[in-house]
Amino acid sequence: MYQPSLDMEQILLDEQAIDGLVSHLADVLTHEYANRDGNTLLAVPVLKGAVFFATALLEKINLPLEIDFVSASSYRSATESGDLTISALPNRTDWDRVDVLIIEDIVDTGKTLSSMVETFKALGAASVRVVALLDKPSRRVVPFTADYIGLEIPNAFVVGYGLDYAEKYRNLPYIGILREEVYQKNNS
Ligand code: PRP
Repeated sequence: MYQPSLDMEQILLDEQAIDGLVSHLADVLTHEYANRDGNTLLAVPVLKGAVFFATALLEKINLPLEIDFVSASSYRSATESGDLTISALPNRTDWDRVDVLIIEDIVDTGKTLSSMVETFKALGAASVRVVALLDKPSRRVVPFTADYIGLEIPNAFVVGYGLDYAEKYRNLPYIGILREEVYQKNNS
């Protein structure tokens, strides 16, 4: 029988706690983006981790908006940080009338989001902001501050609600801290 809760050290956020964070962020964003002089609000969830957070958040944002998914991949090795490649950038000509809201599950080293923000700025977007459900500031390698954060967390291995370990656990409805034995066993 599948019992992923046995792999968890602790449940960090249960469904109700996640819903509370998402609802709060949606209220803040609905207020912040209410008056934009006719600009398009373009929500950009970053695959794959942000999918669960993005769908919950966007259905609670009470404003007209468009959605375009992007995916980011980096070629990292032990010695190189690697370049970020963003796939499927939206193809449009009206960037000066577009307010981009990048949606992420977690900010870790900050590399993905700092590159992502620069990319949309370079396209000429009217504004570029970031909302992330979780933030691990202690892991930052490049300076980066998200505009809207659900919760700041310590440096723990979190999975669930989109977050994975080796592609597993993404479909859990809660966010848990993975037991060290689980990833130590698989890394040995
Ligand atoms: C995770 C997360 C962010 C990125 C944050 O994605 O969704 O995109 O890492 O890390 P950073 O701040 O160190 O750049 P991941 O690369 O694991 O891909 P996934 O969303 O498909 O799981």
